[in-house]
Amino acid sequence: MKKTMLTLTLLGIALGGAPWVLADDKGERNFLGYGRDVDPALSATYKEECGSCHFAYQPGLLPEQSWKGIMTGLNDHFGDNAELEQPVLDQISQYLTANAADRTKTGRSPGIAKSLAAKDAPLRITETAYFRRKHDEVPLRMVKDNPKVGSFSQCQACHTKADTGSYDENQVRIPGFGRWDD
Ligand code: HEC
Ligand code: HEC
Repeated sequence: MKKTMLTLTLLGIALGGAPWVLADDKGERNFLGYGRDVDPALSATYKEECGSCHFAYQPGLLPEQSWKGIMTGLNDHFGDNAELEQPVLDQISQYLTANAADRTKTGRSPGIAKSLAAKDAPLRITETAYFRRKHDEVPLRMVKDNPKVGSFSQCQACHTKADTGSYDENQVRIPGFGRWDD
């Protein structure tokens, strides 16, 4: 019993976690070539409050100004009311801005920040030039017209390791279509 647990733990580390042995402009890779594209979301408060309607997007996916824009407009959040009590609002705003794309030096975050003009602060990750460039070959029939996905905002529907901050194209499985081969 104990041995099985140990084996599973080691396997888990080998497949998903440390040790990072390679690093390139995309981020850190483990020996299987998979790695961390953005730092995972670690704040429990953030995941609870902002991960109930959709995937808890990692802070490193948008620049500071975008998060500020989102957090000051929660009463009309893409048509929904996502308002929060002041102390929780402050805590989450603090967390998001401190870990924003333009304040992070690793993984894809610097590239995302650089894909935007200086004062540009889109409220959607899916509107950044970086995101568009990475997804311009993915046809609508796999996304909007795919009832199992619905929109590009559902990162975790296709990126099987999205919650760990890994968005490697080799880990993509599109519901109803399977692996991504390009
Ligand atoms: C009441 C439900 C609800 C809550 C709670 C909520 N959101 Fe959203 N959020 C939405 C909806 C609806 C959309 C639009 C999704 C779509 O277009 O498919 C959205 C979209 C987003 C997007 C843009 C995704 C994209 O397309 O790139 C971001 C970023 C976001 N939310 C951040 C947050 C943050 C930060 C919080 C917590 C403060 C939060 N959300 C809480 C409903 C919610
Ligand atoms: C409909 C499925 C789908 C959804 C939803 C989706 N993606 Fe992707 N994503 C893909 C595919 C397919 C690729 C690879 C595209 C290619 O290589 O042409 C990709 C590529 C990427 C890459 C580059 C990976 C690499 O190895 O170069 C990043 C980063 C990424 N997606 C992030 C996101 C984020 C963040 C979200 C949510 C806001 C998201 N994706 C939503 C399908 C999806």
